[in-house]
Amino acid sequence: MAKAAVVFRSEYGSTKRYASYIAEKLQADLFSTDEVKDISVYDTIVYGGGIYAGALNGSDWLQKNKEALLHKKLIIFTCGISDPQEPKNLESIHAYLKKNLTEELVCHAKVFCFHGALDYKKLKFTHKGIMTVVFQALKRKKEHSAQDEVMLKCRDVPVDFVDVSQAEALIEFVKE
Ligand SMILES: Cc1cc2nc3c(=O)[nH]c(=O)nc-3n(C[C@H](O)[C@H](O)[C@H](O)COP(=O)(O)O)c2cc1C
Repeated sequence: MAKAAVVFRSEYGSTKRYASYIAEKLQADLFSTDEVKDISVYDTIVYGGGIYAGALNGSDWLQKNKEALLHKKLIIFTCGISDPQEPKNLESIHAYLKKNLTEELVCHAKVFCFHGALDYKKLKFTHKGIMTVVFQALKRKKEHSAQDEVMLKCRDVPVDFVDVSQAEALIEFVKE
């Protein structure tokens, strides 16, 4: 099999859980974006990042390495609190990627979207601030979707939808 590396950026660990599982299953090297040095030795790169306020965490790393990545098999996975099984959420995630990354890179990559986790009490100060604005906006809404309800629940109880079995299709795709 081609030599593969899994590169990730993870603030609270959920993307890292998927990345570690994928690397183990593929017997690939695993790096955070802070650790990774030379990707020239890899034929396949799997990149994972969380979704933060409608943006892919670490999209700067992808853009910085764009020229090299365009010559490799590239897989991008996202990890977010919105349920990627919901077609509307999936559509939004793809729209975020189009906004964050150049079209060439998005077209070149195979994208997979996974469900993440959120523990409001453990968030960094700036992230708590962003989430407070989100909660206030949701509270002003007259009707709440199932996704809004999940978001509101995050305020009081940690939610964790990470399920590494979601990564099986990605693993199969890399092996193809
Ligand atoms: C400030 C903030 C903004 C977020 N924005 C989104 C978002 O726009 N869409 C989404 O699906 N999840 C959003 N999330 C949830 C994260 O994507 C989720 O917690 C993910 O599991 C984080 O992965 P990580 O811990 O590996 O960085 C947000 C979380 C925080 C703290």
